[in-house]
Amino acid sequence: MDDTPTPPAEKKRILTGDRPTGRLHLGHYVGSLKSRVELQHSYDTTLIVADLHMLTTKPSREAIEQISENARGLVLDYLAAGIDPNITTIYLQSAVRETYELNLILEMLITVNRLTRVPSIKDMARAANLSDEEMPFGLLGYPVLQAADILLPRAHLVPVGKDNEPHVEVTREVARRFNQLYGEVFPIPDVLVGEVPTLLGTDGQGKMSKSLGNTIYLSDDEKTVNKKVRGMYTDPNRIHADVPGRVEGNPVFQYHDAFNPDKDQVADFKRRYEAGKVGDVEVKDALALAINNFLEPMRERYRQYEADTGFVDQAIIDGTEKMRQMAAATMKEVKSAMGLSGSFNRIARAAERRRKKLEKA
Ligand code: TRP
Repeated sequence: MDDTPTPPAEKKRILTGDRPTGRLHLGHYVGSLKSRVELQHSYDTTLIVADLHMLTTKPSREAIEQISENARGLVLDYLAAGIDPNITTIYLQSAVRETYELNLILEMLITVNRLTRVPSIKDMARAANLSDEEMPFGLLGYPVLQAADILLPRAHLVPVGKDNEPHVEVTREVARRFNQLYGEVFPIPDVLVGEVPTLLGTDGQGKMSKSLGNTIYLSDDEKTVNKKVRGMYTDPNRIHADVPGRVEGNPVFQYHDAFNPDKDQVADFKRRYEAGKVGDVEVKDALALAINNFLEPMRERYRQYEADTGFVDQAIIDGTEKMRQMAAATMKEVKSAMGLSGSFNRIARAAERRRKKLEKA
């Protein structure tokens, strides 16, 4: 019998993340952050702070100056939500030069026509007030840049919000095309969308989104949560507590389902609400309590990490270094698979040596 111990199976990899546009809210949590926190123990997880993606709609100097502040806030939100910096790699996209390299190569493997049909691109252009005429080349290429992010660590799984699903589809197509042309370099990544793919905003008018001002942030304090929940949209036809109300499409009940662990209480509220036998205030106060209980462990971690000056910056620096190594290894394989490193290998190496020398000088 062969008693050679089987080597531990290599963990599969996750690559996902966000643009550093602002703080994370409950919609981010149920859409993808929850899975990221859970899966970091079974997958090698890398989180990207996608600052280059911000340039697709906001390339101004002022917007760029905002990035470091926003990046710190985003990473603080990750850590408070339960991302463990000891096992999860967090990196800054613009600091990994292989991102730009792979992006350019992948641009050759997809058509303009295909990208024009990605629904989120039009949404982003509209949100940025850009007409068709004003569509930046780079915004059209948004999903290609995202494919470069996902393929650099050769990720197997991408937990994202529903709006990002089409981007992962583009990634899969581009990866297949690359493998077909040059050989099997990339796994075809799967997408994972959270249990509550689209959390409604507190105004009930659409999804929770910073630009609509209908958010509850992970970093909101107890008072703010109470106030926001008290002001939430419910069934507008229910002008008195004894009028039967609608549970479906009602954000108060969607949040109860998502954040109240007492399922019996939720079922009881729904029954009484539909029968016109409960007041809004009772339902909302129970919801505010549930959300505050849910956020309390995060508040504790905010206090810890905020007290530890420089911790967040150091986590990003360490993570970026780790990502650079992974990315360099992938690019070596990419170029060799393409034959790009062939006859010019020596020239490329000489140029790299000179660059390093200049960097040191
Ligand atoms: N597109 C994502 C967003 O909407 C950010 C992002 C950039 C991303 N690169 C990624 C997400 C790679 C997952 C994987 O903010």
